[in-house]
Amino acid sequence: KDWTTPDRYKKYNDWDSEYIEELVTTVTHSPWRLGYHIQPKTGLLNDPNGFSFFNGKWQLFYQAYPIGPVHGVKSWAHLTSDNLIDWQYEGLALEPDTSFDSHGVYSGSAIPVDDKLLLAYTGNVRDDDWQRHSYQLGAWMDKDNQIKKIDEPLIAHPPIGFSHEFRDPQIIPFKDGYLLVIGAQTDKNEGKALTYTSNDLQHWTLNGELNFTDKPMGFMVECPNLVFSNDRALLLFCPQGLDKSICHYDNIYPNMYIIGDNYDLESNSITNPTELKNLDEGFDVYATQAFNSPDGRVLAVSWIGLPEINYPTDDYGWAHCLSLVKELIIKDDKLYQLPAKETEALRLNSITLPESQSIQYDAKTNGYELQIDCQNSNKGQINLMTQENGENGLTISFDTTYGKMIIDRSHVGDGFASEYGEKREFSISQKPLTLQLFVDESLVEIFINDGEQVATARVFPSSKNTHFTINTDAPSSVTYHELRQTN
Ligand code: FRU
Repeated sequence: KDWTTPDRYKKYNDWDSEYIEELVTTVTHSPWRLGYHIQPKTGLLNDPNGFSFFNGKWQLFYQAYPIGPVHGVKSWAHLTSDNLIDWQYEGLALEPDTSFDSHGVYSGSAIPVDDKLLLAYTGNVRDDDWQRHSYQLGAWMDKDNQIKKIDEPLIAHPPIGFSHEFRDPQIIPFKDGYLLVIGAQTDKNEGKALTYTSNDLQHWTLNGELNFTDKPMGFMVECPNLVFSNDRALLLFCPQGLDKSICHYDNIYPNMYIIGDNYDLESNSITNPTELKNLDEGFDVYATQAFNSPDGRVLAVSWIGLPEINYPTDDYGWAHCLSLVKELIIKDDKLYQLPAKETEALRLNSITLPESQSIQYDAKTNGYELQIDCQNSNKGQINLMTQENGENGLTISFDTTYGKMIIDRSHVGDGFASEYGEKREFSISQKPLTLQLFVDESLVEIFINDGEQVATARVFPSSKNTHFTINTDAPSSVTYHELRQTN
């Protein structure tokens, strides 16, 4: 289907039921549907939004265009969970139905206040000349999931000197009031993050440009998120058009982070910031949203998908998924990312494979977790989702003497995004390697050395390719966990 602009902005209800039924059938027959990751029922999913804890449950929303696998007019879809792994779909929560959000309910955050959850989001509006207007909006959700949009914008326009590429508000409690961090662009096309403060969540005062680097941040910063771990500040953000000499990346747009000693309100700065780093070493992570959860952890979810890239599932009427919930920890100036401990409850059968330099296994499904301890090996190669002969899979090769890892998806099923490269090569610690791998039909999440790094890859293999091989220059110990499906 050719998606014209009028198609993309047509009201959901104006699509005839025949089209919708056909879409549902197409998705139902799609290969590559995920077993235990959040995916759209139909159409497109992008950024996680409003990740929070409220009403005794985890609350998570995502950017949704349920009508097709394209970036059409967006809503917030709502999910709740008791355990961060089984998610209950609650339907569309915020739809584009006011003059402040007519062309899309864009990304934002959520924060519990008394017995309600405040949803803060960007209303995207296109005027008659198709010029963009961005409004920062609020809505209150009660314990019955009833939502009431606040009539007037929290922030009605970008500050002077800034364009309407102004979106993705994150509200956090700060000192005696609240802080809002938002992605922005100057009218000279420079990417920035801005902050605002408020005491009552209604009146917001511009605090100005958030200082976290002296380098140019491309033409736009999307989805900035400020969280605190072990008394350190962590800023996650997506600098679009970032010069690769500042920090190398291969994806169309990167998701990056910096760590600072703290956030100082007065100077509006992340103090003593580190250099920029890629949050994920793989192919598809973007728009990660993190929050300081009331249990003391920093929890995060990533969009596994990228803007402006076509994926093979487009032909089946759906696109993209969310990552597992990850716990972020800053220790000794370093960021660690681990699957939330709740993820262990997905395990069904666990098998310790006999230690060997050459392991071959037929998992029979592509829904499992592997823990690999490479102990005495300096070099090795892991092939996932392969044929019986070990060919045509996702290849992970490592050499700890040189501290290198390469992930290659060029031989897996239907290729895509090849103009951005089919391999990712990056540095790893020069010490014995441990890996925790999650394989889910068309997604692999690789946690390296207890969360020192993460590499994520969508892959679209034949469903018959359920074998994996592990070849190392000394025996490795491997535990295989079959995982339960949650979808
Ligand atoms: C990031 C993003 C956000 C925006 C949303 C719209 O992927 O472009 O900046 O709010 O997606 O769906």
